Amino acid sequence: MKIENINIPLMISGNLIENINLNDNYYRMRIKAPQIARKAKPGQFVMLSMWKNKDPFLKRPFSFYGIESDSGTFDILYKEIGKGTQIMAKSKAGDLVELIGPLGNGFKIPENTNNIAVVARGIGIAALMPLILESKKRGIAIYAFLSAQTGNLLLCSNEINSISEKVFYTTDDGSKGAKGMVTNFLQNVLKEEVIDVVYVCGSKRLTKHIRNLQRKYNFLAFVSLEEHMACGIGACKGCVHKTNDGYKRVCKEGPIFPVEEVIFDD
Ligand SMILES: Cc1cc2nc3c(=O)[nH]c(=O)nc-3n(C[C@H](O)[C@H](O)[C@H](O)COP(=O)(O)OP(=O)(O)OC[C@H]3O[C@@H](n4cnc5c(N)ncnc54)[C@H](O)[C@@H]3O)c2cc1C
Ligand code: FES
Repeated sequence: MKIENINIPLMISGNLIENINLNDNYYRMRIKAPQIARKAKPGQFVMLSMWKNKDPFLKRPFSFYGIESDSGTFDILYKEIGKGTQIMAKSKAGDLVELIGPLGNGFKIPENTNNIAVVARGIGIAALMPLILESKKRGIAIYAFLSAQTGNLLLCSNEINSISEKVFYTTDDGSKGAKGMVTNFLQNVLKEEVIDVVYVCGSKRLTKHIRNLQRKYNFLAFVSLEEHMACGIGACKGCVHKTNDGYKRVCKEGPIFPVEEVIFDD
């Protein structure tokens, strides 16, 4: 049996093809790793390291932002926030990348889905992008609800605009779209359209709002959760999140969970 056909995560080295600074602290990285690119699905992620002498010690998790199985590459959209991502930001084409993946369960698109809503805050759009492209391929209408601190941090907005039925923006400073909660727009759409599934990624607050709307309008909803991860493969239990079915490992049972299952304590 070919190694690509075995459904276990692969631990391999990849090659950095390009690393582009998009905006402020946001970057897009393209990695060549054909075995992983051929198996990756929307909503899954890789654990990655490209630092010497195990400093920092642990790999870091990143969602697949683009998957090109034909060329054997995948993209990561990332925000520079700490030691690991600072090293990533400085890396150059040709650098080696240590990878484990693909990991996690990925998004489900139920049969007979006609309309979906994607709700993203900031870098949360990274996890949703392959789902948006897959939905487009299947002829599903996409309503996108994007929010960020300020207008130039509304990432991928042109691309999403070109393939979505409608796109709604909110920014904290009002520099693009409206100020306030992007879910207010979603509520307006829900009053007029049947949205079969809502997918959300980006903040706890956003997910709680989706849960409230779900109670009122009764749609399927899935969230891509983030927790600090040590192993990424279900072994250390360091990434557990409270659900109404006990604690679940975000890296193994997730990162995609039905919104109604997830419990936030605060
Ligand atoms: C399944 C999954 C998918 C992810 N996908 C992406 C992605 O596509 N793009 C992207 O930019 N980031 C993504 N992240 C977050 C990314 O893993 C972290 O930003 C990264 O690990 C930070 O590493 P660092 O060494 O730069 O920062 P560190 O030095 O480890 O941390 C810097 C600061 O950020 C905080 N922090 C670190 N990780 C997280 C986290 N997961 N949630 C909240 N706060 C955190 C730390 O507490 C600390 O305050 C994902 C996380 C998960 C769990
Ligand atoms: S990170 Fe180790 S179990 Fe999830």
